[in-house]
Amino acid sequence: YDEEQKYIAPGVQSIALFSQIAPDHGRGAVITDADGREYLDFFAGVGVASLGHAHPKYVRAVSDQAARISVGSFVTGHRMNFCKLLSTVTPGDLKRVQLYSGGSEAVEAAIRLAKSRTKKYEVVGFWGGFHGKTGGVLGLLGDDFKKELGPLMPGTYNVPYANCYQCPFRMKHPQCGLFCAEFIRKSLKVSTTGRIAAFMIEPIQGTAGNVIPPPGFLEA
Ligand SMILES: Cc1ncc(COP(=O)(O)O)c(C=O)c1O
Repeated sequence: YDEEQKYIAPGVQSIALFSQIAPDHGRGAVITDADGREYLDFFAGVGVASLGHAHPKYVRAVSDQAARISVGSFVTGHRMNFCKLLSTVTPGDLKRVQLYSGGSEAVEAAIRLAKSRTKKYEVVGFWGGFHGKTGGVLGLLGDDFKKELGPLMPGTYNVPYANCYQCPFRMKHPQCGLFCAEFIRKSLKVSTTGRIAAFMIEPIQGTAGNVIPPPGFLEA
């Protein structure tokens, strides 16, 4: 860890900085670090490695593909089958898939889709929200990461998230009657031009500390 710090630029995830773990390998939910210490992995790459580490089927699939061809852009049997399979489990009319290599890219694509579909141009983010680090999403981040990185994408707004553990209004749920939702509605009414294309919201905020909103907030 210390050796890498001399060469790696700042900006790696805080979980890596706080833990300073240097994983060597993993099996299922167990990670073994370079000094042979074992850890139970409750993190799984913010949930994206939910198959566990080194699952034999996953290892075989990745190795088989790497041994066949490294390819981008063109259709492959695997890509076609994946898109087809995904479209069988997505709800309603969601049948088309766009593939991205990271979260920020996918969020930016979602914003483009919302703008082009609604013909509107404003996007709302939430306090504590994290959506990546690219220029198009910075204005939606609900923390001070964006300090001195302006100007931000025009038409982005931030409103409070229903974080009952640290309520920004110092109220208690359910007695508050979801005052935050009322506040958000009023605040957007007076601060936007009324052309909101999308709300960018995490149903459970991850980076903010696994914040679970109370029942009814997302619907409100
Ligand atoms: C909710 C959420 N959206 C977007 C991102 C950005 O993903 P990426 O770092 O792959 O661009 C993250 C990354 O942690 C995230 O937690």
